[in-house]
Amino acid sequence: MKKLGVAVVGTGFWGKNHARVYKELASTELVAICDVNAERAKSVADQFGVKVYTDSTRMLKNKEVEAVSICTWSTVLAKEALKALKAGKHVLVEKPMASDTKKAEKLLKTAEKNDLHLTVGFLMRFIPGMLHIREAVENKKIGELVCATAKRVSQWPERIGDVGVVKDTAIHDIDVMRYIANEDPITVYAKTGSMRHRKFEDYAQIMLTYKDGKSAFIESNWLTPYKTRTLTVTGSDAIMRLDYITQELWIEETKETLQPRYPWQEPLKLELQHFAECITEKKKPLITAADGLKALQIAEAALQSSAKNRAIKLR
Ligand SMILES: NC(=O)c1ccc[n+]([C@@H]2O[C@H](COP(=O)([O-])OP(=O)(O)OC[C@H]3O[C@@H](n4cnc5c(N)ncnc54)[C@H](O)[C@@H]3O)[C@@H](O)[C@H]2O)c1
Repeated sequence: MKKLGVAVVGTGFWGKNHARVYKELASTELVAICDVNAERAKSVADQFGVKVYTDSTRMLKNKEVEAVSICTWSTVLAKEALKALKAGKHVLVEKPMASDTKKAEKLLKTAEKNDLHLTVGFLMRFIPGMLHIREAVENKKIGELVCATAKRVSQWPERIGDVGVVKDTAIHDIDVMRYIANEDPITVYAKTGSMRHRKFEDYAQIMLTYKDGKSAFIESNWLTPYKTRTLTVTGSDAIMRLDYITQELWIEETKETLQPRYPWQEPLKLELQHFAECITEKKKPLITAADGLKALQIAEAALQSSAKNRAIKLR
């Protein structure tokens, strides 16, 4: 079977992983990489033995490139994704998809108009065990969903300087909450603030409420000296807990605690494999551009809620 020709725009900390995984996958052929930092671009291209570009406009003219991962700084994602879509390439744009919802809407419309795949890098959906939680909630294996709580705290990754913790970090959990509830929240109330970061918020507590009374709570910060990434889903009959780092899953029932074991898998590998498969088999991606836009709308409403000190109704 012919491999899908792919490229990566932005090969810093995360884009380098995209390049490595594309190189490892049997279904993709890493054709080229592009980074505005010429030295970094050359070193990554040499590592993987692919064509190097420092200007994506030139790279996008390469007909061997059919799909592109956009892994630039968050404020540049939308511009680069739009360029790629206009050049007729399928796109996986890293979260937060764009720095604001207007830009995200433009991406969604452009992909639709040009009949191209556009997906967003919400990696948490590819953690083995996440599907188990989603299905347990849907099939009421834990009873009625009461609430879900996510904690994503660690020290500030200093290379992230162009958006705050809500759009950079909490957005993962906003997407997870939409995914497991299979429904959109109706209000958001948040408290955000800055202790160390000069320009953006570095902590956020976000509460989402749903029309039937269930709720979700997200705690995110760039302050805690150690890294915690967990999800607790409370049902009327049982509780499910997931550790995103170890990928361990627990189901706490009245009489016993079960621990279904899933072999550890690299979520990025599953994500990029799925992206390539959706393009070649013309399937709808697990994460649509509309999911990306919705998560960003909720993130913006959370920031607005904190600024106005009141709950914000979501459309
Ligand atoms: N899904 C996840 O779990 C996950 C994890 C880490 C990072 N990310 C996302 O990936 C993106 C990159 O994060 P990072 O940590 O790698 O940042 P980084 O600063 O390490 O890398 C960004 C790279 O993009 C390059 N760049 C900037 N503008 C460019 C342009 N117009 N064309 C080509 N290259 C350009 C920079 O030179 C840099 O090398 C961010 O949007 C971040 O939110 C997602």
